[in-house]
Amino acid sequence: MATVPYIREIIQDGHPTLRKVAKKVTMDELGDPLFQQLIDDMFETMYHAPGIGLAAPQVNIGKRLFVVDLQDDDDDHGPLVVVNPKFTVTDGEVPSIEGCLSVVGMIGDLTRFERVVCSGLDRDGKKIELEGTGLFGRCLQHEMDHLDGVLYIDKAKNIRPAVTEEEKEALAQTEAEVAALANNAEAATV
Ligand code: NI
Repeated sequence: MATVPYIREIIQDGHPTLRKVAKKVTMDELGDPLFQQLIDDMFETMYHAPGIGLAAPQVNIGKRLFVVDLQDDDDDHGPLVVVNPKFTVTDGEVPSIEGCLSVVGMIGDLTRFERVVCSGLDRDGKKIELEGTGLFGRCLQHEMDHLDGVLYIDKAKNIRPAVTEEEKEALAQTEAEVAALANNAEAATV
């Protein structure tokens, strides 16, 4: 009988699990119904937050997997589970504005690779390879950092509170700013 996924607690900066290098997932673990439940719970937790990515350490599980869903952006970008991810290609540099569900309410500026190729396993243990550019590529890098005990605030400059509703209204004067703000809002939830 399938179990109902539930929303797990997202741990916050200062919790030791967020600072540990997560352990590789074994095939035995992956085949365990409790591990499959963890994956379902991670999706449920991410959608509830809401966010576009969530790594296992953020729900206090020190294992190398994350979930991502940017399906609104592109059909190929979610919902995805990546187990034991590894970057096989990292290319270029792009500025990124990010936030994190484990550092609530804050955003910061950092530099990410422009393009990454990420290989790993899906939830059935099948090999997958994902190419990421744009928001998807930055999201993959943010989640990968979580598996190595790294938070974006370790790399970011100008860490600041996310904009308030009033600031959003004031900003909503040009299309470009609105678009930039929309991107920030999306990025501010990984
Ligand atoms: Ni995060």
